[in-house]
Amino acid sequence: MSLKVLVIGSEGQIGTELCLELEKRDDVVLYRADIRILTNSERRLYRLDATDQRGIKQLISDLQIDEVYLMAALLSAKGEENPKLAWDLNMNSLLHLLDLAKEGFYKKLFWPSSIAVFGPDSPKVNTPQNTTINPSTVYGISKRSGEFWCDYYFNKYGVDVRSIRYPGLISHATEPGGGTTDYSVAIVKEALKIGNYTSYLKGDTILPMLFMPDAIKATLALMDAPKDSITIRTSYNLGGFETSPELMAHSIRRFIPSFEISYSIDFRQEIADSWPQSINDENAIADWRFEVEYDLDQTVEAMIEALK
Ligand SMILES: NC(=O)c1ccc[n+]([C@@H]2O[C@H](COP(=O)([O-])OP(=O)(O)OC[C@H]3O[C@@H](n4cnc5c(N)ncnc54)[C@H](O)[C@@H]3O)[C@@H](O)[C@H]2O)c1
Repeated sequence: MSLKVLVIGSEGQIGTELCLELEKRDDVVLYRADIRILTNSERRLYRLDATDQRGIKQLISDLQIDEVYLMAALLSAKGEENPKLAWDLNMNSLLHLLDLAKEGFYKKLFWPSSIAVFGPDSPKVNTPQNTTINPSTVYGISKRSGEFWCDYYFNKYGVDVRSIRYPGLISHATEPGGGTTDYSVAIVKEALKIGNYTSYLKGDTILPMLFMPDAIKATLALMDAPKDSITIRTSYNLGGFETSPELMAHSIRRFIPSFEISYSIDFRQEIADSWPQSINDENAIADWRFEVEYDLDQTVEAMIEALK
C-alpha cells in the first residue's frame, strides 16, 4: 500500500531536495504545499498558508495524508528582523499539525528544530543533547518551545512526532532562506562567479554544518526508524563538520587558487557567536544510525562540481 506524504514548505532549501528523494520511493505518493506556489492538483501542488488551521485540515483530510514534513518557517536572520512573524509562523504551524495528528487526521510528523536552540550559556564544543539551553534569538526560542510541544504531544497524546536539530545546511539546488549560515552557500557561488566573497561573519567563526544529501539521509532515517527506537521526542542533536569562512575559503582555493575573501560584519555575527561550534550527536548515531558521508572538502568539491 502506498504512503501519502505531504511536505509543507516544499519549495524551500530543504523541502526541494527532500521532495526529490521522496519522489524516488515507489511506495510514496508525494504532495507538495507552499505559500509560494499555485495549486495544480494534477501535479499534486497546493498553495497553502501553514498558519491557516482550517486550510491545513481540509488539505490533509481531502488527500488522506499519512505523513507530514513541516518545513515552512522563518529562519534565524529573517526572524530577528520580524520576531512576531517568526513566532506566529514557527509556533502556530506546528501546533496546528500536532493537533491534527492528535485528532487522528494523519499518522506521523517530521518537524525540524535547529542548533539555534543553544544560546550563549551552552557549551560551545561537542555540545551535548541535554545541557544549559537558553536561546537568545526569537528563532531559537520558537524552536526550543516547539521541541517541548513535540515532547508534550508525544507523552500526553501519543503523537508520533520526530525531530532533528539541524546544523547549518549547505546545498546548491535552492537558495537558502535567510539563516545565519547562508554564507556557506554564497561563498562557493561567488567564488565561481566573480572569484571573491565578502563575508558577513568573521573569518574564524566556527559553526557546525552538514551537506544537504547527509541532512536528507538523516531525516529519512529518523522517519523510517521503528517507533520504539526513538528515545528523544524533543529533537535530536545532529552535527556534521565544523567550518568557518576562513576554512571554507581555504578549501575553495584547492579549485580556485586566486579566490579572495573580505569581511563586512553585520548583525548575524552576534547570532553565530551564541551558537555551538560542534555538536555531540551520539544519540542519533545510537538510535537510528546517523552517519556523515561528506566532510568540508568533499562538500566544497561537490558544490563546485554541481554549480559549474
Ligand atoms: N536551512 C538550514 O540551514 C536549516 C538549519 C536548521 C533548521 N532548519 C529548519 O528547517 C526547516 C526548513 O528550512 P529551509 O532552509 O528549507 O527554509 P526556507 O526558508 O528555504 O524554506 C521555507 C519554505 O517555507 C515556505 N513558507 C514560508 N511561509 C510559509 C507559510 N506561511 N505557509 C506555507 N509555506 C511557507 C517558503 O515559501 C519556503 O519555500 C525550517 O523549519 C528551518 O527552521 C533549516
